[in-house]
Amino acid sequence: MSVRFDFAGRSAIVTGAAQGIGLQIATLLAQSGAQVFMVDVDEERIKQEATEIGAVGVGGDVSKTPDVEAVTERVRAETGRIDVLVNNAGILRDRVLWKLSDDDWQDVLSVHAGGTFRFIRSCVPVMREQRYGRIVNVTSYSGLRGNMGQANYATAKAGIIGLTKTAAKELAAFGITVNAISPHADTRMLASVPQEKRDQLIAATPMQRLASPSEIAPAVAFLASEDAGFITGAILPVDGGISI
Ligand SMILES: NC(=O)c1ccc[n+]([C@@H]2O[C@H](COP(=O)([O-])OP(=O)(O)OC[C@H]3O[C@@H](n4cnc5c(N)ncnc54)[C@H](O)[C@@H]3O)[C@@H](O)[C@H]2O)c1
Repeated sequence: MSVRFDFAGRSAIVTGAAQGIGLQIATLLAQSGAQVFMVDVDEERIKQEATEIGAVGVGGDVSKTPDVEAVTERVRAETGRIDVLVNNAGILRDRVLWKLSDDDWQDVLSVHAGGTFRFIRSCVPVMREQRYGRIVNVTSYSGLRGNMGQANYATAKAGIIGLTKTAAKELAAFGITVNAISPHADTRMLASVPQEKRDQLIAATPMQRLASPSEIAPAVAFLASEDAGFITGAILPVDGGISI
């Protein structure tokens, strides 16, 4: 990757980092000198990927408060700091809304909005104490514009936008910025979308293609960098123009 960032002396948590966008974010932060703690519900894969990039892999479920607390406690204990938090973990349970079960609804809200909330709540005491923090959340086109078959996901991702803006206002006084990106990339998550829908997505994208997950990571690293200290509450599309 040609972009250069300096995260020497910084510790970072990246959720949902076993693959896709999260793995690329963790890789770029680690290459840039951060001590990265990668969290994923897929314990075997996260440990394997983390070893390959010189990071720490931790099995954990962002929808479970004890798992979240255990991660932040470990990072604080091992590094003395938590500088960067990237809330990226995600799942899909797509169905038209009249066929969504309570579990489809609850699971998606609990991972996306709930996981983002839980990790912010858990990291804020440390970030406030050090009067420094960079939080980057991951929202979606669905949250910005709505999307057929994704009432649960769109609600969760729109919720993340409200959470990002509220947290940005609450935490600015402590040197903590809170921003979100809205990505559009070719990952396992998108592979689960039927081909016809994928083709429609590409056709609706001015760039006429999907990004590689590695094209998303530099935008996150920038928002997570010290230099981005006057940007907060922003929702940055990294999406080839689909949300225009
Ligand atoms: N790919 C896209 O085009 C796109 C578009 C908009 C938003 N997003 C968002 O980007 C983020 C990353 O998506 P991706 O495409 O890389 O998906 P992905 O499926 O490739 O990766 C998601 C990762 O999250 C992990 N995960 C799921 N539930 C978890 C939990 N409860 N606790 C911890 N980890 C969990 C999975 O195991 C997986 O490794 C998600 O929040 C997604 O909603 C992606």
